[in-house]
Amino acid sequence: MTTTGSTTAESAMSEPITVPPFAVISGAQVQHALQGRETQIVELVEAAYRLHSAGGSVNPPSYFLRFPDRPSSRIIALPASIGGHARVDGLKWISSFPENVAAGIPRASAVLILNDHDTGYPFACLESSIISATRTAASAALAADWLTRGRPRPARVGFFGTGLIARYIHTFLAGTGWSFDEIGVHDLFADSAAGFCGYLERSGAASRMTVYDSAEQLIRSSDLVVFATVASQPHVNDLTWFEHNPLVLHVSLRDLAPEIVLASTNILDDVEHCLKANTSPHLAEQLTGNRDFVDGTLDDVMAGQVTVPADRPGVFSPFGLGVLDLAVGKYVYDEVVRNRELRVIDEFFHDLRRHG
Ligand SMILES: NC(=O)c1ccc[n+]([C@@H]2O[C@H](COP(=O)([O-])OP(=O)(O)OC[C@H]3O[C@@H](n4cnc5c(N)ncnc54)[C@H](O)[C@@H]3O)[C@@H](O)[C@H]2O)c1
Repeated sequence: MTTTGSTTAESAMSEPITVPPFAVISGAQVQHALQGRETQIVELVEAAYRLHSAGGSVNPPSYFLRFPDRPSSRIIALPASIGGHARVDGLKWISSFPENVAAGIPRASAVLILNDHDTGYPFACLESSIISATRTAASAALAADWLTRGRPRPARVGFFGTGLIARYIHTFLAGTGWSFDEIGVHDLFADSAAGFCGYLERSGAASRMTVYDSAEQLIRSSDLVVFATVASQPHVNDLTWFEHNPLVLHVSLRDLAPEIVLASTNILDDVEHCLKANTSPHLAEQLTGNRDFVDGTLDDVMAGQVTVPADRPGVFSPFGLGVLDLAVGKYVYDEVVRNRELRVIDEFFHDLRRHG
């Protein structure tokens, strides 16, 4: 470990303050730390939500960097601080370039910076598209569990949009004990749907698989609907498609017309976060001028303060909280340290004597 060097003022302090080593953690290391740990990660995400609701976090609004010359793309900064066991600050910096997919590379790319609680020094940079997809999928699986408690679990799931996030959500549902009689799939692109079905087969899913050309048929055939598209504005407008009252994991946030939101029980991850950036709940707020349609947060459900009736559609809209990235990122960091695989960049912080 590099030290700041001792001065008279510093040596008067009881605890020596040191500059932490700076490490880089690759996607391969991240995946190794998280693979097969679905139950553990869902518990971690549940604890992070509870801590967040209890005031044990700082999670300011995400900042969206957009480009006039590339209107479909964005880079989002998610700064956050989490207390409790993780006790770490940091920033996820995540790009979404949807045109990447046609070129054969993932839409999203990201890094997560972890900052030391005591000195503020960044001490790790982690590949974070996997961390982001993992915390998103863990949150979706957690919501699917809590929002269906006290009634039979949905046996027919429909994936509306079948990219990387849909794959992670299926992995997390399967890895936390869900099994389905039927898996429905719908995507604008046949290649995406076929690729997702290939993944399902390789994953050993024993369900009957159906690719639906019609969005309506997918929704009508599913008790659990997972939206993971890249739609920037609502394209599902017909409330009658939901008359069987499915649970909807509205992960891509902008698929549902506000009228469908208003006719549903709405559970968000964080109300202030979710009613921004023209999400469907935000459009519903703009339409009605109030937030009466919001029934509560996932933490309210977990705390038994809100129940989700089975006689109307239930919609979970997770904006995605930086505290979840921190919780999962710190878990990965600790795993890499435990396995003695931390790759430190020597002399990353340099010129540490104040007066040279
Ligand atoms: N809420 C959160 O916390 C959170 C976190 C991560 C990602 N996301 C969102 O998840 C979504 C999916 O991300 P991804 O990485 O899987 O993207 P991706 O590009 O890999 O996959 C998206 C798929 O949706 C399909 N699609 C787009 N519009 C469609 C439509 N109208 N109908 C049917 N299919 C459609 C595309 O063809 C593509 O196959 C994105 O919108 C992303 O912003 C949300």
